[in-house]
Amino acid sequence: MIYMHLTEKEQRMLDGAEGYAVRKSMEILVALGAIYGAKSLINVGSVQVSGVSYNNLGDAGLEFLDELARDGKVRVLTTLNPAGMDLENWRQLGISPEFAEKQNLVIKAFERMGILISCTCTPYLIGNLPLYGEHIAWSESSAVTFANSVIGAKTNKEGGPSALAAAFVGKTPCYGLHLDENRVADIHVQVKAELTKLSDWGALGYAIGKKAENRIPYITGIESTDLDKLKSFCASVVTYGAKPLFYIKGVTPAAEQQTVPKETVSIEQADIKNAYDSINDQVSDIELVCVGCPHCSINEIAEVASLLNGKRVAEGTEFWVATSRTAKQLADKRGYTATIEAAGAKFACDTCMAVAPLKGRFKSLATTSAKGCFYSRQNLMKTKMGSIEECVEAAVTGKWNS
Ligand code: F3S
Repeated sequence: MIYMHLTEKEQRMLDGAEGYAVRKSMEILVALGAIYGAKSLINVGSVQVSGVSYNNLGDAGLEFLDELARDGKVRVLTTLNPAGMDLENWRQLGISPEFAEKQNLVIKAFERMGILISCTCTPYLIGNLPLYGEHIAWSESSAVTFANSVIGAKTNKEGGPSALAAAFVGKTPCYGLHLDENRVADIHVQVKAELTKLSDWGALGYAIGKKAENRIPYITGIESTDLDKLKSFCASVVTYGAKPLFYIKGVTPAAEQQTVPKETVSIEQADIKNAYDSINDQVSDIELVCVGCPHCSINEIAEVASLLNGKRVAEGTEFWVATSRTAKQLADKRGYTATIEAAGAKFACDTCMAVAPLKGRFKSLATTSAKGCFYSRQNLMKTKMGSIEECVEAAVTGKWNS
């Protein structure tokens, strides 16, 4: 096994001169570097840490974090992925006090490390916005894909411990998508389908993910799009099989520098329909409606508010609007929160349907998100994917009608 070249300072960190958390972190980074053949460490501009929900961490994870928090302090801007509950209004989401107590201990450990307690998978919407070409160490797959593809930053998809290690050292091993030679598009995807609503972008991600199979798509046939559709696409394409990097000609940065790959596949209307057919289950009664995967932008919250205005969520159905606390604060100021809550819907800040402890609690879900359907099936729910309008309709009728 070939080990990375370490500077004298890095070697001292590995030898324990800067304390327990830094030594542990260096051990993790050196092991990763050896596995992936990295020659050295590189500085990172920011870190985003996954593995925040107590639902996924359990007591062993909490213990690991507590140990690191004894002397570990992050050296770069570090934010968190969603936790297992709304950190303020967990009761209204039906979270038990026992779970809340453990989740709060997890958050306190992160706080002691100097991490900014913003639990969101859209850190790029709330101030953790990397520069073009900047090396970062992010964990959440949709955010990693967004950072690599839409922003043009450079990151591998880190695991929770390797992201934390990068935060304590301020560096990550230079391999994978940090190297330009590994960022070359290797499959040309011609989109010939018409995409009309937000969830079509989730369906497109499903279709391309399946065809790209761990490759980097170079996508043509899309004239323009907006940020919400791109974030939905990012979540889906990586969930269903592609690498966390794509190029869209005329839309994403650096697409022009890519040579069009020889291997070409096309996405027809039938592929989009097939994606919906695969993602949607046979179910008509809807127990949970959740929009905000990835976390809602303020524009999506505005749309939910306008569609819910004057309506009422059906008895026996819950409607969650998952978002960052920052976006919710903006929604408070603009009056969207009042409209949404007057209709009986709930904000689920800091959390999401995939990482909250929902297994067995709801039998069916309606959402805008292809990724949300993937994870909710693991939580034993039957799933339906559609537009924000269709989701609001499902919330007020308790039924999926289309
Ligand atoms: Fe975000 Fe949870 Fe979806 S982390 S991308 S809302 S599954």
